[in-house]
Amino acid sequence: MLDEHEHSLRGVESPAHDPNLCGPEGAVFTHDPLKLAVKNHPLAAGTKVHLLTFGCQMNKYDSAMVAGLLGERGAAFVENPEEAGLLIMNTCSVRGHAEDRVYNRLHVLKERKRREPGFTLAVMGCMAQKEGEQIAKKFPWVDLIVGTRMLDEFPRLLERVREGARTPLLAIDEKPDVKFGETVARRENKHMAYLTVIRGCNKRCTYCVVPYTRGPEVSRPIAEIVSEAQRLVDDGVVEIMLLGQTIDTYGYDLGGDTTLWKLMRELHAMEGLKRIRFITSHPEECREELFSTMHELRDKVMPFIHMPPQSGSDRMLKRMARGYKRERYLDVVRAARQRCPEIEFCGDWIVGFSGETDADVEASLSLMAEVEFQFSFVFKYSVREGTPAQNLDDDIPEEAKKARHARLSELQEQISLKKNRARIGGIEEVLVDGPSKHDEKRLTGRTRSYRLIHFSGGQELIGKIVHVKVTAATPLSLTGERV
Ligand code: 5AD
Ligand code: SF4
Repeated sequence: MLDEHEHSLRGVESPAHDPNLCGPEGAVFTHDPLKLAVKNHPLAAGTKVHLLTFGCQMNKYDSAMVAGLLGERGAAFVENPEEAGLLIMNTCSVRGHAEDRVYNRLHVLKERKRREPGFTLAVMGCMAQKEGEQIAKKFPWVDLIVGTRMLDEFPRLLERVREGARTPLLAIDEKPDVKFGETVARRENKHMAYLTVIRGCNKRCTYCVVPYTRGPEVSRPIAEIVSEAQRLVDDGVVEIMLLGQTIDTYGYDLGGDTTLWKLMRELHAMEGLKRIRFITSHPEECREELFSTMHELRDKVMPFIHMPPQSGSDRMLKRMARGYKRERYLDVVRAARQRCPEIEFCGDWIVGFSGETDADVEASLSLMAEVEFQFSFVFKYSVREGTPAQNLDDDIPEEAKKARHARLSELQEQISLKKNRARIGGIEEVLVDGPSKHDEKRLTGRTRSYRLIHFSGGQELIGKIVHVKVTAATPLSLTGERV
């Protein structure tokens, strides 16, 4: 019977090239080394679920949607993983460190599976997509492994586990798109939500695993995004962060005149939606229309852009296959500042990439200083299996990577401090996030340019936009008083 359900299971594949992994159904892994006689019913109403998310905002979005799907089916979410009958890990492959943390947990969970046979363990996301077969072999106590393009099938797959399917059940498919339907994201933050508008990446930066874990670019139609945004606003959301690996290419694959700025216009018209943000931009793809639209719609579209340079050295940019030179990056910054004067920049940097010399590091430092980024995320290069850079020497010793990381981080700290101090005395428009982590009687929020700000005020302000006069600054945050 080839109903919709069966169709979805076409994605439940064993690797054809490894017959030892193939069960009699040809589709499901066979081993169940813990010999679990009885499976519990993970989707039964009240099943306690803990969902642990590693990695980027895209993963947070996927987690919120999967949680939405499970919540609709009666799952209850618990903060303590020890209390959960179903533990889901949404994984990240971008750097080795993120993967190691998941592998460590999977090792530890073997004992728990032995102790609690009814306990269900699922791995989803980028590692599931890229390493699913290896995870199934090395950690046969995992029940369910769901790749990035099968996440909308999560409840059905879980149902299969519940019905006693052989585990680990592996669902990795190159399905073109993920359709979460009418589900409303189950968020930690009531008034802020992520919304993925384009999945995948068509670039091939040599160090990066994302094109292999997330597949090619697929944009969602504007109407679908607007209706998801409306459901979020109806659910109390006032700020939406639009997500894409290279968000500037949003709409290209849809043909016609669909662009990021057209989408912004549609969302701008939505009553109740107060703030729109978007990440991540690519220096080669950023268009001037984006900056003029940001300025024109500045009452709602926030003046902040995350546009990773990765390096300030043309030689390194070429080795990384980034597709632009330092001068292009600076041109984009100038164009952005001219069209949208309020704009602030955030950057990602990789230090210790193959062949990086001291002169290349100096070039990154000087670009950082010239642009005056508001924040930066600095990463030590980590070789990723299957990427083009795997064939290049990882020739920068860990100590040198650390030292370079420290140099870039220190410079960024100085720049951030200088820029934040310049805000003292000014008034910031702040969306109130919640109680401060350091002092429960105080609140934190985000300014238009995404700066963290602490101030005093009552809980009733959470989710509201207030005005705060800045009185002090550190590299990472501002402090102020409501006016
Ligand atoms: N090693 C270190 N950092 C990486 N990034 C991506 N791939 C790697 C890698 N192999 C960084 C880039 C990217 C950010 C999300 O992670 O800076 O912008
Ligand atoms: Fe990775 Fe480059 Fe695509 Fe960004 S643009 S996700 S760094 S391949």
